[in-house]
Amino acid sequence: MEYTRLGPLRVSVVGLGLWQAGSRLWGTKGSARNWALRVVGEALDQGVNLYDTAEIYGWGESERLLGQALRAAGAGDDVIVATKVGGFRTTRYTILKAVKGSVKRLGRPPDILQHHWPPPIHSRLCWVARGLEEAVEKGLAHYIGLSNYPARLLEGILYCFHRLEPVSLQIQYNLAYRSPENKLIPLAHRRGLGVIAWSPLAKGALAGLRRAQTGAQKGDPVFREASRDERLQEALETVAKRYGATKAQVALAWIIAKGAIPIPGTRKPERVREYAHASSIRLSKSDVDLLDKASTRYLYKWGRCYRSLQWLRLIPSPLQYLAIRFAGGV
Ligand SMILES: NC(=O)c1ccc[n+]([C@@H]2O[C@H](COP(=O)([O-])OP(=O)(O)OC[C@H]3O[C@@H](n4cnc5c(N)ncnc54)[C@H](OP(=O)(O)O)[C@@H]3O)[C@@H](O)[C@H]2O)c1
Repeated sequence: MEYTRLGPLRVSVVGLGLWQAGSRLWGTKGSARNWALRVVGEALDQGVNLYDTAEIYGWGESERLLGQALRAAGAGDDVIVATKVGGFRTTRYTILKAVKGSVKRLGRPPDILQHHWPPPIHSRLCWVARGLEEAVEKGLAHYIGLSNYPARLLEGILYCFHRLEPVSLQIQYNLAYRSPENKLIPLAHRRGLGVIAWSPLAKGALAGLRRAQTGAQKGDPVFREASRDERLQEALETVAKRYGATKAQVALAWIIAKGAIPIPGTRKPERVREYAHASSIRLSKSDVDLLDKASTRYLYKWGRCYRSLQWLRLIPSPLQYLAIRFAGGV
């Protein structure tokens, strides 16, 4: 495994996403315990040290399973746990309350506390910043991260931090969703934020999966588009053959070549080794160019600016909270 920096933290160039553990939309709620232990155990064996979860994944189940799995494997201090409080947490009080729940479920303070998506349009960005800063100052988390903040809101919230600086920005980024390259990623890099790429495989489409199997995949237009994009699938196949690799590994290696950290998820322990080995693939410049060309249209297809999850900003936070809470998380 290769390692890189996320602010002051040393993290593997490939992380692991834990949305798939205990999730309603991935069909694993209430039934993930055994394989989640194996997935995390395998990832630790492979040298993966960055683990991403969130309070809304299975409404706490993913955090609980990750905490159990890390303890069962006797994971060391070098493991970096990143969790997220929902974007409906918009005040100091609600953020602190949420983080205390996460700490309990994880059995440790998270290393990175991320705000999952920007607050609703009527809320104040600076209230969010205060809550995140205070959580770290109270020892409930070690560092601050942001997620799904488009460029304008990222600039706005960065202006609000006075005592601490966020270390990371987690965004949707893959070969079939390249809008962040236009403005957001250059801004994040200029402001010293490490970029974590969620959905690095477009939920399996970039690994070659053609048919949606789960609610998470069915509801994702990027999955639909990428799974039918013959030109992109062929480019992945061509490059994969050259490196004796799989399409998934090439899709992950492309993200690494772009300077971001992919956090692929899975419900199958055997995939973890495949993901981890993407860290040893160094794509040549001509192969990165080939993949860039085959995916150029995704620089604008979903909008020039970052739009993922921005529709949530139109819904008042209590309604967001109630809808997600009573659905049992996502
Ligand atoms: N910040 C945010 O708003 C946000 C949003 C979404 C996700 N995330 C994070 O990002 C992580 C990963 O993103 P993601 O959940 O969107 O998924 P992803 O990593 O893009 O794709 C993962 C899925 O691809 C499937 N897959 C991989 N190789 C395959 C193959 N050869 N054939 C068929 N299917 C294959 C896996 O299916 P199996 O399960 O069958 O292995 C897996 O569930 C999440 O776990 C979460 O931590 C963050």
